[in-house]
Amino acid sequence: MRKGITSLASFLSQAVDDGVSPDLAEVVTALAAASLTIAQDIRKSNWMEADTSLGTVNIQGEVQKPLDVIASDRMMAALQPLAHVSFAVSEEVDEAVSLNTAGRYAVIFDPLDGSSNVDVNITVGSIFSVVEASTLDQILQPGRQQRFAAYAAYGPSTLFTLTLGNGVAVFGADHRGQYRLISQGHRVPAQNPEYAINASRKMDWPPGIAAFVSDCDLGETGPLARKHNMRWVGSMVAELHRILLRGGLFLYPGKSIDGPGKLRLLYEANPMSFILEAAGGVCSTGTQPILDVIPHGLHQRVGVLMGSASEMESLMSYIQANP
Ligand code: AHG
Ligand code: MN
Ligand code: MN
Ligand code: MN
Repeated sequence: MRKGITSLASFLSQAVDDGVSPDLAEVVTALAAASLTIAQDIRKSNWMEADTSLGTVNIQGEVQKPLDVIASDRMMAALQPLAHVSFAVSEEVDEAVSLNTAGRYAVIFDPLDGSSNVDVNITVGSIFSVVEASTLDQILQPGRQQRFAAYAAYGPSTLFTLTLGNGVAVFGADHRGQYRLISQGHRVPAQNPEYAINASRKMDWPPGIAAFVSDCDLGETGPLARKHNMRWVGSMVAELHRILLRGGLFLYPGKSIDGPGKLRLLYEANPMSFILEAAGGVCSTGTQPILDVIPHGLHQRVGVLMGSASEMESLMSYIQANP
C-alpha cells in the first residue's frame, strides 16, 4: 500500500499526480459522495413502508422499488452540476440523460443492485462505470475501454471498491461516514471451490454449465476431486465482493451459452469485470471476454461467468466440451 494514502481524496490526488485526469477524479469524488448518501437512504428506509413498491415498471420489466428510484435520482442530482459529464445512463431510466454537451465522460450506473434484498436487510450495492463519450453512440463501446469502475456495497460495512484500470483499491466508511483506504492491489485468489448460481434456474442452464455444476456437487469422489461450497445472495455486488476477497465463481448464464442472460452489460457485467480483471479475475460471456463485447443497446443483457482464474479455466473446459 502506498505510504500516506488513507482517504479517497489522498488516493485520488496521488492518482492525478500519476497522470489520471483531474476531471475524472472530480467525477469519482461525486460518485463516492453519492454512494454515502444512498447508504443513508437505505438505513432510513427502515422507517419507510418497506413493502411498498411504486407500481412502476422499468425498461427491464422489473417493478421498481422506491429505493431504486431514490438512488437513481440521487445519482442524477450528484452528476448534474459536473461540467465534465456528458451523459448519465441509469438502469432505472430508459434513455441516456444528456447533462452537458461539452462533457467528456458518460457515467453509467446501476443505482441499487440486488434491490429485491433491500426489504429484508441483505447487502445491496450500487455499480458505477465511467467511459469517455461525448456523443450518444460513443457510449456503446467495449468495456475494456472504461476509464473507471466501482461498486459500493451497503452491508455490515459500507465499502467502495474501485479501479482506474491498474489495480483495485477498497475503501470503507469510517465512524464519521468518510471513506478510508482499507486495501490496495488485492488479487483474486486463483482457486476457491465455491460457486454462486441461482440453482432454481437449473432447467435453463446450457449443457456445459449443467455438467460443471453437477461435477462440483460430486465433491472429492467426482472428476473435480474437491468438495465445493455454494452461495447465492441475490446481490451481484455482494457475491463479487466475496469473490474478490476469497475467490470462487459467479455464474448467471443465459439459456444458450452464446445468448443473453439476466444481467446487464453496461452497468453490471462491464464494471464488475473491469474491477475483477484488474485484480486478476477472469470474466466471460461463455463465448468471449465480457470486456470485448461491442454493445448494441444501453440495457443489453449478457451471460455472466466470472471469478477465480483457475476455476474459470476449469469451467471453460466444460463449456468447450459441452457446447
Ligand atoms: P438489480 O437489483 O440491479 O436489478 O440486480 C439484481 C441482479 C443481481 O444483483 C443479482 O445477482 C441477480 O439479479 C439475482 O437474480 P435472481 O433474482 O434471478 O437470482
Ligand atoms: Mn433492477
Ligand atoms: Mn443490478
Ligand atoms: Mn438495480
